[in-house]
Parts: sequence; C-alpha cells; structure tokens
Amino acid sequence: MKILHFDSKEYNFITIDKNKYFIFKGINGKNVIIPDHCPHRGGPLHLGKWDEKKEAIICPWHRIACKKQYLIHNGLPAVRVGTDWHVLIDQLDVQDVSLQKLHIALEENLNKWERYIV
Ligand code: FES
Repeated sequence: MKILHFDSKEYNFITIDKNKYFIFKGINGKNVIIPDHCPHRGGPLHLGKWDEKKEAIICPWHRIACKKQYLIHNGLPAVRVGTDWHVLIDQLDVQDVSLQKLHIALEENLNKWERYIV
C-alpha cells in the first residue's frame, strides 16, 4: 500500500501502472478521483460529457453511459485538504506511478456532479 501526495494545481491525472484516473471536481470543495477507463473498450472518460438524466459520463468513443456507481466504485480513495491530495494506492505490486496535468473536458459541466458526492 502506498500513499500518493500531490497538489491539484499541478496535477489532475494519475497513472498507476496501466490504470489511469483523474480528478473529477464538484463544487463546494467536493471532488473525487475516478477511472479514466470506459468499461466498454477503454475510452478516455476525461474527454466525455456528464449526462444529468442518466447520471453518467458519456464516453466520447461509442457514447455509452458510465454510471456514477461505476465511477465511484472504481475510483481511488482519497482525502483532500485545499488543493493537497492524499491518495491511497491499495495495490501491493505497484511498479510505476506518474502524475500529469491534462485538459479535462468534463470540468466544463462539473457542477452537476456535486449532489452525488456524500
Ligand atoms: S469505449 Fe467507451 S463507449 Fe466504447
């Protein structure tokens, strides 16, 4: 098990071995780290669009809805204080962890996520 520390002003995208995650920002300081992997064929969810009615991210590749339950269940446990993040990597055999700053298309409609975060 590892704890990853970073500042979201510098990074918003995490790669752990072959698995990718990104910060999905809500309003009022509520944020989550969710998988960037569409369960259909691995499409990049950070380039998707939030669908209010379906409560899901619409994958940009084949337009399948990735439900919030999938996103939360497959996200990373984390604690945020301001822009400082502390992320639990609950894998024993992690070989490589990297951080990046990417354009997250979903940030354009993130405020709709707020009510789903407990
Ligand atoms: S890869 Fe996401 S809908 Fe096909």
